[in-house]
Amino acid sequence: MKNLLNLSDLSKDECLKIINSAIDRKINKKQSTEAKDKALAMIFEKSSTRTRISFELAIKQLGGLSIMLDKDHLHLGKRETLADTASTLSQYADIIMMRSNNHSTLENLAKHSSVPIINGLSDLSHPCQTLATLMTIMEVKGTLENINISWFGPISNVAHSLIDAVNMNLGINLSIYCPKYYQDIYFKKLKDMKKEISLDKVIIKEFELDKINPTDVVYTDTWFSMGDIEDSTKIEMLTKYTVNQDLMSKVNSDCMFMHCLPANRSQEVSSEVIDGSQSYVWQEAQNRLHVQKELLLNFL
Ligand code: CP
Ligand code: NVA
Repeated sequence: MKNLLNLSDLSKDECLKIINSAIDRKINKKQSTEAKDKALAMIFEKSSTRTRISFELAIKQLGGLSIMLDKDHLHLGKRETLADTASTLSQYADIIMMRSNNHSTLENLAKHSSVPIINGLSDLSHPCQTLATLMTIMEVKGTLENINISWFGPISNVAHSLIDAVNMNLGINLSIYCPKYYQDIYFKKLKDMKKEISLDKVIIKEFELDKINPTDVVYTDTWFSMGDIEDSTKIEMLTKYTVNQDLMSKVNSDCMFMHCLPANRSQEVSSEVIDGSQSYVWQEAQNRLHVQKELLLNFL
């Protein structure tokens, strides 16, 4: 059974096919009923705007239907084991997409499900987001070859999936600017979760305004992911990582600004940048719908 728990579960060819087919279907406004009578079950342990709506629309526009399962309205973990829920859902749905607090929940679900599991964000990774990010870069720059991405802030689940993309040899290069404290948090998380990822091709360092590597994309994510507790010491540590006009003035005028959203305009990005001419965040959000369609077709 093939699942998408991490971006690395896809081959480079599958990843490029998803991106290129998504661009083709978007440009040519291709209609299809390839998912006719297919059902997508979606389980959310955390809130979502883009992931939920884009998956719901994607399956509907392909002729199928989605079933939204809020964890508070399932027996999951209360009156029924995850294994039994997975076996039951496999009787009804053709694909299960889950947003989970713990990545291990997705792994367990995959172990007990007889239909594919797609990770709609976990504490470890966010593969669907990275596909939309790569699609957007491909649309704007026309290629992924030799595209330099600079990441600012904590190494989040979104950053982890970007590292996976680098390791797939898609041609992108990644520089991560992150306080040492947050670098150590990321390494500890990997160790605690017993996960390994190659960082050989990724540059990870602390940020100095005048020492940004040449970059085609500036990317950031919320400093506090869902479930994290905000604290003023951490905010202070991260303040110089805010993507503001000062930072954007150090990069080329054709450098894209990207963000997975939701954004905190008083922390990781200024309104001036996210609403500015270099921002592609809305195109990136729309592309969640387009890649989701190809992703679903890849797994049906
Ligand atoms: N980027 C993203 O996954 O957004 P949502 O949390 O709104 O789904
Ligand atoms: N790192 C963020 C991404 C949200 C799409 C979070 O996990 O909350």
